[in-house]
Amino acid sequence: MQRNRLLSHTRVFLTALLASLCAAASAAPEDTMAQRMRACTACHDNQGRQGSDAYYPRIAGKPYEYLYNQLRNFRDGRRQYPLMAGLLHEMSDEYMLEIAHYFAALDVPYAKRGGGTLAPEQAARARKLVESGDESRRLPGCAACHGDALMGVQPAVPGLLGLPTDYIRAQLGAWHSGTRKAASPDCMAEIAQSLTSEEISIVSAWLSSQPVPADAKPAPRATREAPMECGSVLDAQKGER
Ligand code: HEC
Ligand code: HEC
Repeated sequence: MQRNRLLSHTRVFLTALLASLCAAASAAPEDTMAQRMRACTACHDNQGRQGSDAYYPRIAGKPYEYLYNQLRNFRDGRRQYPLMAGLLHEMSDEYMLEIAHYFAALDVPYAKRGGGTLAPEQAARARKLVESGDESRRLPGCAACHGDALMGVQPAVPGLLGLPTDYIRAQLGAWHSGTRKAASPDCMAEIAQSLTSEEISIVSAWLSSQPVPADAKPAPRATREAPMECGSVLDAQKGER
């Protein structure tokens, strides 16, 4: 009898404890995406902007399919950054897609940044490569895919403005040397490999010195025919995610 009462008290107590724990958990304002993304925004800034460090890329407002592809690339070894790969290695594709949508929908202003300085002759060459490429090498201009405003095109092509010089240079260098890969056919690998290292430097400096337009958003769709095939764009066209 005594023992039974004790047991039932314990049961009541445990049930109450459990109920209050559940209530606390569900009422917690803490379990939001913003909260869960703190491990990321420690480097990518609190709203997915680029961090104060000159290298961290901004992720807010980039096309979601592009972000989704990059998360999978880091997890699966097509891009190398051990500190991120560690955070991503057990994440499912579904959760990565959710994260990609979360950051793609963030609308925060771009930080002002100074780009590299170029001699007028270098700036003119860089601008020509970006706007119209070099026909003698069958190299398309960057704008043909990245959009006339260079702010990217939904859903899989990222913008090229508002990024640190060192970051752009490192990405082109990584495609050049094969340490960054995208879905095949990897158009960016071909493009980076046809640029000389001097061209990579001046194009990176020129892009990062361009002002970011006030209504900076990726274009909703491509307005020109793609000059080359890109696997990541083809994959995006195959299935609406
Ligand atoms: C320790 C700092 C750090 C942490 C933590 C971190 N990142 Fe990154 N992230 C970086 C750096 C640095 C790069 C660029 C790496 C490179 O050179 O390719 C990057 C690149 C990216 C890119 C590609 C951006 C682009 O324009 O291609 C995405 C997307 C991204 N991170 C999302 C995340 C998410 C989501 C998390 C949390 C799960 C996260 N990051 C955590 C530092 C970090
Ligand atoms: C044929 C289309 C095409 C052309 C032309 C092109 N790009 Fe790209 N670019 C892409 C696609 C698609 C991606 C996304 C690849 C991925 O998913 O990783 C990309 C990604 C990039 C990135 C990575 C951005 C980031 O946030 O990490 C950089 C930098 C870049 N391109 C620079 C250039 C430059 C500079 C030129 C011109 C010299 C250029 N691109 C021309 C299609 C193109």
